[in-house]
Amino acid sequence: MSAQLTAPAAIVLAAGQGTRMRSRIPKVLHPLAGRPVLDHVLDALAGAGVERPVVVIGHGADAVDRHVSGRARTVRQEPQRGTADAVRIALEAMPHDGAIVLVTMGDAPLQPAELYAALLDEQRSSGAALVLVSARMPDPAGYGRIVRGADGGARAIVEERDADPATRALDEINVGTYAYDASWLRQAIGRVQASASGEYYLTDLVALANDDGRLVGVVTVPDAADAVGINDRVTLAVAEERMRRRINETHMRDGVTIVDPATTRIDAGVEIGQDARIEPWTILEGATVIAQDAVIGPNAHVRDSRIGPRTRVWASVVEDSTVAEDVQIGPFAHLRPGSEVGARCRIGNFAEIKKSRLGAGTQQHHFSYLGDAEIGENVNVGAGSVTANFDGMGKHRTVVGDGVSLGVDTMMVAPVTIGEGATTGAGSVVTRDVAPGKTVVGIPARPIELRRRSKPPADAGSPSAGEAPVPSGSERNP
Ligand code: UD1
Ligand code: CA
Repeated sequence: MSAQLTAPAAIVLAAGQGTRMRSRIPKVLHPLAGRPVLDHVLDALAGAGVERPVVVIGHGADAVDRHVSGRARTVRQEPQRGTADAVRIALEAMPHDGAIVLVTMGDAPLQPAELYAALLDEQRSSGAALVLVSARMPDPAGYGRIVRGADGGARAIVEERDADPATRALDEINVGTYAYDASWLRQAIGRVQASASGEYYLTDLVALANDDGRLVGVVTVPDAADAVGINDRVTLAVAEERMRRRINETHMRDGVTIVDPATTRIDAGVEIGQDARIEPWTILEGATVIAQDAVIGPNAHVRDSRIGPRTRVWASVVEDSTVAEDVQIGPFAHLRPGSEVGARCRIGNFAEIKKSRLGAGTQQHHFSYLGDAEIGENVNVGAGSVTANFDGMGKHRTVVGDGVSLGVDTMMVAPVTIGEGATTGAGSVVTRDVAPGKTVVGIPARPIELRRRSKPPADAGSPSAGEAPVPSGSERNP
């Protein structure tokens, strides 16, 4: 058999309106652990070896189509006449796919890859017309109930609205995921009759298989919470909590310490190295990578960023930035998009960095703003130093060379370059380039010749060091 015939095919139903979400966004595009609901389904399918499934779209079709392009094929179902109708349309679009067809719902994002794999295995080994997934739900309201025959096999699925009280009392429900013998499915799907409501129920195939004398298999999910389908924002939040817990547990099993999982939110897809430590009240979002031995939190918010080994991020916000190893950030620092912080830097209280690069060993301890700047290595950014990067029309760059000492309250009016080893006095407003090794003071800042003090003052190295009128090139903020 060719690979095309042996590889399992899959159909994901996602055309329904999702009325109960009361949203203008298609249900399957609502985010769950930082990623659209539908992506979790596609990820799990990929994990079970199913590539490029067919997604049936209808409501919000254009948005869903754009979103899955490259990962899945799509077919449009217009109007939406039920789950069997959706599968029939999908099959027409995939006439040669697979000896087995897996069907699942786009609104059931918690079903793990292992469940799909077990289902496919069961179908392969049993030769059943179909194998369905069941769950024992403490509260089965809203689901189709599985009716078993005298031999214990699944005889039929009865939708809640069609169920009598005895059937409603059954707690074994239809999860909505199935693996079919493809050739049986292709000829049976057209035999599904419209229900009283005019909908074509995919669930009718269970009774049809029994009528054909074919086997119907059942795989029961070990944990019913994985079977939850998202119908409204309440179930979305339930799924979110479950997904978060699963993500946290995966990281902990992989060697990451999460001090308080209940207050730690880590998006699907975030990578964290061994022996990293995530302190309470921390949010890690998007394409974030935390290296080993890093300590993040308490109260850290990191989005789409890379944090290096042994770096500490404490009570700070880091967005779309790269931070090297052994850096200390916070408390109360904000790295805005496009920031690159070199090894061993110290970024402290109320420091803001935007679209700037800081060389290794640079210190920006106290309230200060660096925007559109290229800062060298071992620069000391005095308290209150600011790049005036916007002149009301456009943004301009500031370049600060290695070993520069910026006195407290230095204003750098961009575009401007401060040469290697230069010093600025407290409160200087730097409007013109400063040559390497020079000291500038005043408004606007002008070079001065330093008088050497015979003896260093008692408070050398305090945060006020570098103050005019006699700035010293050797004094640095701690
Ligand atoms: C369905 C099952 C029910 C099961 C439940 C599990 C049927 C008839 N019922 O009910 O037995 O317990 O799922 O969650 O299958 N969809 C389409 N086209 C349509 C209709 C629906 O693509 O014409 C899609 C929806 O977008 C959704 C999925 O199919 O992703 C399920 O539809 P939904 O209306 O939510 O079915 P349920 O009533 O939940
Ligand atoms: Ca549903």
